[in-house]
Amino acid sequence: MASKKGINAIDLESLIHIRLSRRKAVQFGLGSLFSAALPLSALSETRISQGVKQGMLGFKSISIADLIDDVIVPEGYKAEVFYRWGDPISDGPAFKMDASNTGHEQLQQAGMHHDALQFYPLSDDDHGLLVMNHEYIDAQILHSDGGFLDSSETYTVDKTLKEQYAHGISVIEVKKSDDGWDIVRPSVYARRITATTPMSVSGPVAGTNYIQTTADPLGKEILGTLNNCSNGKTPWGTYLTCEENFNDYFDVTSLEKIDKKQQREWQRYGIKQGYYGWYKNDERFNASLHPNEPNRFGWIVEVDPLNPSSKPVKRTALGRFSHENVAHNIGKEGRVAFYSGDDAKFEYVYKFISDKAWDGTQGLHHGQLLDEGILYVARFNDDGSGAWLPLEFGQGSLTKENGFNDQADVLVHARKAADSMGATPMDRPEWVTTHPDTSDVFISMTNNSKRGKEGKPDKNAANPRHNNKFGHIVKLIEEDATSISFAWDVFVLAGDETNQGTISGDIYANPDGLMIDDRGVLWVQTDVSSSKLNTDDFAKFGNNQMLAVDPNSGETRRFLTGPIGCEVTGVAMTADLKTMWVNIQHPGEVPARLKQRGVKKSAVKPNAASNWPDHQLNGRPRSATVLITKKDGGIIGD
Ligand code: FEO
Ligand code: CA
Ligand code: CA
Ligand code: CA
Repeated sequence: MASKKGINAIDLESLIHIRLSRRKAVQFGLGSLFSAALPLSALSETRISQGVKQGMLGFKSISIADLIDDVIVPEGYKAEVFYRWGDPISDGPAFKMDASNTGHEQLQQAGMHHDALQFYPLSDDDHGLLVMNHEYIDAQILHSDGGFLDSSETYTVDKTLKEQYAHGISVIEVKKSDDGWDIVRPSVYARRITATTPMSVSGPVAGTNYIQTTADPLGKEILGTLNNCSNGKTPWGTYLTCEENFNDYFDVTSLEKIDKKQQREWQRYGIKQGYYGWYKNDERFNASLHPNEPNRFGWIVEVDPLNPSSKPVKRTALGRFSHENVAHNIGKEGRVAFYSGDDAKFEYVYKFISDKAWDGTQGLHHGQLLDEGILYVARFNDDGSGAWLPLEFGQGSLTKENGFNDQADVLVHARKAADSMGATPMDRPEWVTTHPDTSDVFISMTNNSKRGKEGKPDKNAANPRHNNKFGHIVKLIEEDATSISFAWDVFVLAGDETNQGTISGDIYANPDGLMIDDRGVLWVQTDVSSSKLNTDDFAKFGNNQMLAVDPNSGETRRFLTGPIGCEVTGVAMTADLKTMWVNIQHPGEVPARLKQRGVKKSAVKPNAASNWPDHQLNGRPRSATVLITKKDGGIIGD
């Protein structure tokens, strides 16, 4: 059990003071005075861009945020809290600040830990749907008296349900009036998809013995989607959500009846001991009793946000791994390519190419294009060339002799198939984004502390640092989205110059979220882990942040800094580029420097590190969507 011991009450007060001082300083145009307290490195970085338009970027970049508990944006911009964990999606129950909402109430409210989001216009740019992922939960913040990790004795069925309902997806209707943007309540479009929502399965794995269970003997219907990290859009107007660290939800309570092959496969996917206690109250998460249940997660799921009664579909042809996100590009003949990274150390980058061409019209029925096609995995050669290796049963090493039974086997065990084909293990591939005018693809490699360590793969040209602490971004140059060979380059090495970083402008570490907007500006979001945040080598980067990059010149300007302990992840813009939404995830995860001062996150004081965005004395930090506009109504970033 957590106790009050070790929590330094002064920390929160001093943090709030810092926040207010900073806010005042910004309000009165004294930002430069305040930044006198910042490290020298940050000062020299901010001098690089003075707000003069060079290339694509025209705003004046901001300083790093050193433990400031707020969202900061450049002069002339406004950041407003828009949609927080617990806010009703429609006309449902309001959030209770002590987190005493029931599981049933959570089902009608925003889930926790917002990740990627997309905007779908309904009529014009001023009215549409925001669709977003809720990746995971912090039980000690979700429940008023802590979760399974705090006390397994008081872990009730309703707590499990509340945790499951706080996962998944939100669909909310948003509209702009003279007073700005608002959430439309009630709304016929408002919807929550959770870890229990029935979904169908399509593609080569549907109906096979790999996913049949006692509850679903046909292998045709799966309950829920999990750990929805980032996402993607299809050209036909649907939403693709990515199931990332699904292994965290399954518990292997006994290996007695589990054969060696199954054990090896679980090992390859990290299925061992769940992070949550769901298996206590929901038996399907006990992998020892239901060994096929973990095979039903780790997929890309298609959702039609415009049709609230439509059933989501797990698209198995895109393979099973820790999907970070998915980005598409259309080839010359109309066939569509979908890129996706597997975010784990030494995992791979994949591309699926549809067999058939898309006809340019809208609608969920086009989702069938995701059922027929070839999944490829990337090999990066040291000479700057690369190849897409097909993961097709019967081709190359993917044969019976090598232990593969059929195409469903190859897709369920995509990591093993990719190993066998000789793909290049990367430094944790996170987001992939595609350029709107070229076939270029940018992929963030967030970090890899194990690169070059004994017994692990050595550095190579595409992953050029031992113990890659700060991460990098790789650029693929594809002749066409459907090409099966490519050229590649390291676009940037993150970190500052003392660490061989190659950023031109404002510095950052651990790139994660990437989005190229319609004009071609590359937005980079960072995820320095709280075990390093604001301390030692990472102090010079401040809180996690978002930057704008001109992909032609590489010029980088800091656009947004997040509150204490958060990760900045997820960005969407309207087509006129005048509205932007950014998601702030897990504010209040205790950053390393506060940990050194004895601050602990606990059920007793969930706001030990951050009280954003409500800043109420007995409140708790809440992941939230932030709305960003320019005060003069202009184009963002220009
Ligand atoms: Fe959910 Fe790899 O970030
Ligand atoms: Ca991420
Ligand atoms: Ca990350
Ligand atoms: Ca994270």
